[in-house]
Amino acid sequence: MRQLKLAGLSGSLRRNSHNTAILRTLQERLANDIALSLLPLDGLPLYNGDLEGPELPAAVAEFRAALEAADGLVVCSPEYNAGTSGVLKNALDWASRPANASPLKGKHVLLMSSSPGFMGGVRAQAQLREGFASTLSRVLVHPSVVVAGVHQKIQEGRFVDESNIQFALDAIAALASEIQRDPAR
Ligand SMILES: Cc1cc2nc3c(=O)[nH]c(=O)nc-3n(C[C@H](O)[C@H](O)[C@H](O)COP(=O)(O)O)c2cc1C
Repeated sequence: MRQLKLAGLSGSLRRNSHNTAILRTLQERLANDIALSLLPLDGLPLYNGDLEGPELPAAVAEFRAALEAADGLVVCSPEYNAGTSGVLKNALDWASRPANASPLKGKHVLLMSSSPGFMGGVRAQAQLREGFASTLSRVLVHPSVVVAGVHQKIQEGRFVDESNIQFALDAIAALASEIQRDPAR
């Protein structure tokens, strides 16, 4: 069986981002049959319909190609003002074109969120679930991964809470099973 290729999207550009640290730690802990590559979002311009056309900005074209090539997505979002980050929303807006025929259509997605608060960014996750539904993506219904009190679970840039890590790895395994069972693949 060929290796599954997952693309990871962190909703934070911050150098010491907890969300990026979570994805990096999971990336290292995956079994050999799954590869997770983090896609950079910092070069994407703000979505502007005037930039759409046969000649997309290079960063957008690369991002969209990477999404096309991925078997599935693993998204880890912070929560900003009870929603997801502008960084992630902007990336999804670029990825969502053309409507109903975009690289996100039919794409399997695992949502994860984290926050220093006790709700772990669930409101960001709810907003993302709705957004991905509108792009006809296939978001894993269960489990959803929520990392509360994340500032206590990252040490020296690494996600260190073993029970949370195992829960997230099991969720990625569930995503992989969904992808493998998809007859459209
Ligand atoms: C503008 C702003 C708004 C925020 N709003 C929320 C919020 O609504 N809920 C929450 O749990 N945390 C909120 N936070 C705290 C973030 O969850 C926290 O900064 C988190 O570490 C950001 O993710 P990162 O570490 O990946 O950069 C907010 C932070 C900022 C900067």
